[in-house]
Amino acid sequence: MTVDEALRTRRSVKHFDPAFVLDDAAVGELLAPVAFTPTSFNLQHFRFVVSRTPAMKQALAAAAYGQEQVASCSAVVAVLAKIPAHEDAGRVWHDAPEPLRDSMTRTIAAFYGAAPSLQRDEAIRSGSLAAMAIMLRATELGLDTCPLIGFDDDAAREVLGVPVDHMIVLLICVGRALRPAHPRVGRLNLDELIVTERYDGQPLVSSPK
Ligand SMILES: Cc1cc2nc3c(=O)[nH]c(=O)nc-3n(C[C@H](O)[C@H](O)[C@H](O)COP(=O)(O)O)c2cc1C
Repeated sequence: MTVDEALRTRRSVKHFDPAFVLDDAAVGELLAPVAFTPTSFNLQHFRFVVSRTPAMKQALAAAAYGQEQVASCSAVVAVLAKIPAHEDAGRVWHDAPEPLRDSMTRTIAAFYGAAPSLQRDEAIRSGSLAAMAIMLRATELGLDTCPLIGFDDDAAREVLGVPVDHMIVLLICVGRALRPAHPRVGRLNLDELIVTERYDGQPLVSSPK
């Protein structure tokens, strides 16, 4: 399957086969390549909690306002992100040559250290890119998915045991579709989505200093 096919055929499935099992090997196949998803300064904010027991899926479905696909899918992958991931700079750059490691850790501290909203933005960006990678990889493996943010954050945190300095970026139901997704509803026209050079269509007056 090409990336183009995966992008065009992935759909958000609402009805999963509850009998379909995703074993540890399948979870590994799904998530191992996702670890290569890019992150700002290689900080790797993302963490993945894979819940497969009926008790966990039912508790998550309750937190997700009873959305049926959360209980019937094979696994709920909670994409978490560590908000102060800049604190891991020394760890993720430890095997770089010393001058590079020192300059990266200094730059990362200066960039994120006093900027909590930027830390949070980065956590969302990193988690979102990883979430898309999971859905594409699942499609390639013949699996179906449904991303969702329709859940009560406090309740889902409680169920999943998420610490306060991490966020739940998205839950992704993974499994085998029992019924196909609803027919696609209208997509915005590419003419509206793709703009060349400047969004406002105006000429560049002067370069920023
Ligand atoms: C950030 C995000 C949140 C979503 N939340 C939910 C949700 O709570 N429940 C649900 O059934 N689908 C949810 N979806 C799926 C969207 O409804 C779906 O992607 C959209 O309608 C387009 O359909 P498609 O994914 O089948 O192409 C979500 C998708 C995204 C990207």
